[in-house]
Amino acid sequence: MSSGLSILYDTIRWEEKALFDAAKKMGINVEMVDCKNLFVSLDKSQEKFETVIQRCVSYYRSLHSTAALEGKGVNVINSLNTSIFAGNKLFTHMLLQKYGVPTPFSAVAFSEEAALETLESKGYPMVLKPTVGSWGRMIALLKDRDSAEGIMESRERMYPIYQVYYLEEFVQRPPRDIRAIMVGDKVVAAIYRYSGDDQWKTNMALGGKAEECKVTKEMEDICIKAKNAVQGQIVGVDLMESKDKGLVVHEVNNTTEYKNTVRVTGVDIPALMIDYALKSRK
Ligand SMILES: Nc1ncnc2c1ncn2[C@@H]1O[C@H](COP(=O)(O)OP(=O)(O)O)[C@@H](O)[C@H]1O
Ligand SMILES: [Mg+2]
Repeated sequence: MSSGLSILYDTIRWEEKALFDAAKKMGINVEMVDCKNLFVSLDKSQEKFETVIQRCVSYYRSLHSTAALEGKGVNVINSLNTSIFAGNKLFTHMLLQKYGVPTPFSAVAFSEEAALETLESKGYPMVLKPTVGSWGRMIALLKDRDSAEGIMESRERMYPIYQVYYLEEFVQRPPRDIRAIMVGDKVVAAIYRYSGDDQWKTNMALGGKAEECKVTKEMEDICIKAKNAVQGQIVGVDLMESKDKGLVVHEVNNTTEYKNTVRVTGVDIPALMIDYALKSRK
């Protein structure tokens, strides 16, 4: 019998395969749906999906397929609001601020000139990030006016989102950050991610190394607030240990990767996700 549970993907990574295997082990019949083959009539017709775990890698595919399915009454995890909020670093930052979650200082400017002015007044170095993106891509450390001008000039001819200059203080921290995986209101596992050789970014995609991180009460409280700020359900919260501010949240991932967290902590995150999704059915 159908469980009414589907996994929507565009690429099968370790994570998607692990979700499928976890469901099978639990005796649950889960349907794998390739978003590239998906066709949704945007009218009042009945959708065949009940609960969908959204796992598309492509930002636009994920956002729009969530909008289409959720709009037709499908229970999509995470929701459209979460995809919108967590998918954009500026939107996330504003919500984290609103809900009292500690964050790095950040500022936004809407032209190269205004960004340079911000940098002059706040002081170098600062980190320039695309508001939408992942795996550390296009994130640049602006060390001085020269490097800032060079990097920003190259963005002038790109897609307009790259001309939204989202700047963050360069947080003084150990050479690591924290990825905390939340399923519902619980941090089920967390890892330290150490940056790879000659890297300051700690993304696993850039050769970072993982180590188990003990979840403290303080960390859990911050993560719950961060998750709620973006109305998340299953999310990966990224934190840094700022030398002057303590734990700060710089990102919430709505389609989080967790391969290394499972490897290092042994926590069966995919099984917890399946269980959560089944219980979330309305
Ligand atoms: N303001 C910052 N100061 C110091 N390091 C940062 C800062 N922002 C990001 N980093 C490093 O860069 C990595 C990628 O940044 P993040 O905002 O998580 O973007 P992405 O969505 O590409 O993962 C982080 O995991 C962290 O190691
Ligand atoms: Mg990140």
